[in-house]
Amino acid sequence: MGWIPCSGKSNSKAKTKKERKNTIELQEKPLDQIKPTSGISKTNSTLSVKEDPKDGGSDHIAAQTFVFRELVAATRNFRAECLLGEGGFGRVYKGRLESTNQVVAIKQLDRNGLQGNREFLVEVLMLSLLHHPNLVNLIGYCADGDQRLLVYEYMPLGSLEDHLHDISPGKRRLDWNTRMKIAAGAAKGLEYLHDKASPPVIYRDLKCSNILLGEGYHPKLSDFGLAKLGPVGDNTHVSTRVMGTYGYCAPEYAMTGQLTLKSDVYSFGVVLLEIITGRKAIDNSRATGEQNLVAWARPLFKDRKKFSQMADPMLQGQYPQRGLYQALAVAAMCVQEQPNMRPVIADVVTALTYLASQKHDQETQPVQSSRLAPCTPPRTKRDSERKAQLW
Ligand SMILES: Nc1ncnc2c1ncn2[C@@H]1O[C@H](COP(=O)(O)OP(=O)(O)OP(=O)(O)O)[C@@H](O)[C@H]1O
Ligand SMILES: [Mg+2]
Repeated sequence: MGWIPCSGKSNSKAKTKKERKNTIELQEKPLDQIKPTSGISKTNSTLSVKEDPKDGGSDHIAAQTFVFRELVAATRNFRAECLLGEGGFGRVYKGRLESTNQVVAIKQLDRNGLQGNREFLVEVLMLSLLHHPNLVNLIGYCADGDQRLLVYEYMPLGSLEDHLHDISPGKRRLDWNTRMKIAAGAAKGLEYLHDKASPPVIYRDLKCSNILLGEGYHPKLSDFGLAKLGPVGDNTHVSTRVMGTYGYCAPEYAMTGQLTLKSDVYSFGVVLLEIITGRKAIDNSRATGEQNLVAWARPLFKDRKKFSQMADPMLQGQYPQRGLYQALAVAAMCVQEQPNMRPVIADVVTALTYLASQKHDQETQPVQSSRLAPCTPPRTKRDSERKAQLW
């Protein structure tokens, strides 16, 4: 996966955590000085979350610290057979903790990589505070010498990317219902970051490889190393060097570095398009004009007769026609050029939760042909209308 070139070298100074219940204060201090604090700071850089009892309340176990040799033992010395995958930060291994026998995923940060201590710290701090059924659980970390490792819950079905693209022979293709369930769950994870955290957390790295799947294809967002605390007060954006993955980055953010919650909504729209179409955000093996998914999709959004052409051929026509239109309408709104025309994530959650609840029965319902029933074209709306229906 490629990272968008950043405008400056990562600041490798570590930050510290101040924590009381759900408070984190981001400061420039070394990792070994992370300490609990006795109060909630009033500074803009203090993050807190509104707990929702549905999400498991505050009875979360704090991230543990591991010494390097425990993780060497867990992965049998980072054996090749234990390798789950590799990304821009380093390699991810499957392991078993000797102390608890728990199966985990261990990410060993590449010590020579561009992504450094800062991203490691942000990941640890964010995931120590943020807990939701649709966010991956950080079990602990290791900062032994110059080793930096993150220990996560193991997600048995891997990433959404593994199930949508380059599918290995014999792997079950994702059916329509599962796709909508994954989309709705990922949107809920993002809604938690945007609406429950204060100030909001801008995720900045939403893409299919960062949506991990548990039993029953339950989705969880992972990789918070690039996450940013969002704007506070009257500010509508935070200015930052441009980081993220090409193809998922909102155009205004890529051009100006001005980051808003709507940048995440754009990235979510790209992911939703991938879920519906089975195409990659950027695919250089396709014909010119089809390589960038959003650029390919935009003219098709205008012509409802073309909607069925957008459905993933792997679905083999097994999808509800109306559900396809509605899912495409949501995606079209999310990837609009103008950030203020994109919906807020809460409305996307409402729409996708509804779509995920509409079970399509493959056995009894007809395979879709290209003949389409009338459909309402995608509507756009402004923030002021955010409680209005999406269709
Ligand atoms: N908790 C986990 N459980 C199971 N597999 C995981 C877990 N975390 C990561 N993986 C696997 O490891 C792969 C690499 O993950 P990683 O986050 O390092 O990179 P990436 O998301 O693919 O790319 P990038 O670094 O550009 O974001 C994932 O695609 C996934 O298949
Ligand atoms: Mg990742």
